[in-house]
Amino acid sequence: MKLSRRKWLGRSLFYGSGFAGFGYGSLVEKRWLDVTRLDIPLTESHAALAGLKIAVMGDFHHDDFGDGDLIGRAVKVINDEQVDLVYLVGDYISRDAAAIVPLCEVLRNLRPRLGAFGVMGNHDAWHMDPILLKSLESAGVRMLINDAQEFEHFGVVGMDSFLGGRPDLPLALNKITAGKPVILGWHEPDTFATYDDPRIVLQVSGHTHGGQICAPFYGPILLPEYGRKYPYGHYRRGDSSLFVTRGIGTLTLPARFLCPPEVVLVKFGAA
Ligand SMILES: [Fe+2]
Repeated sequence: MKLSRRKWLGRSLFYGSGFAGFGYGSLVEKRWLDVTRLDIPLTESHAALAGLKIAVMGDFHHDDFGDGDLIGRAVKVINDEQVDLVYLVGDYISRDAAAIVPLCEVLRNLRPRLGAFGVMGNHDAWHMDPILLKSLESAGVRMLINDAQEFEHFGVVGMDSFLGGRPDLPLALNKITAGKPVILGWHEPDTFATYDDPRIVLQVSGHTHGGQICAPFYGPILLPEYGRKYPYGHYRRGDSSLFVTRGIGTLTLPARFLCPPEVVLVKFGAA
């Protein structure tokens, strides 16, 4: 088959821009680190949280082209900010649980004032192996699976994965003294629509990667189940907020486009 000069030029431009886009997405944008800052104003009932600083990151998928250097830079940003808490919102691995070991070598450098907490992602639950929890706990990350930790003025609650586990929100909330504001970690963001509890001042989620590959003037091309109602960013409902992070890693395709890796720094404002 002989191509006309015009068709040859058209195909060359099409494939050339595809290769250039993929090269940019895998070699440049996948290695960027965006630092997103979020201020959450508080009502009277949540005033005890004023001044608290939290860092959020997730979706490492470390066996899918994980980047220890990128995660190390995120850890440095978090440590330089001198946060009170770190919340890791799941999907540490995609399918090979052994990848948790090199990931934890980086995560163990986190130095939050009160502690680092983690929840399970759907991939972690689907490919559960004892090495996952053991490695995270020995790196100083307290895993909350339908569990909670209470502090003097607030509680931290974590859910099992909605898609891969058996979440039980009432069970975990009951471990926090009534009246204390709660910070909730739950991997899948669309779970925000499944409850209405004024104690929950903030839910932090991941799962969507913000779409990972976004089209100009359109946004995410593909979003996962239970990540389509709240794909990225800050959402409010009454006194409760949800923040969905784009996460750090990539799934399936080692590239990001118009959707760089992200670490989130949250500060609760004055009442
Ligand atoms: Fe996920």
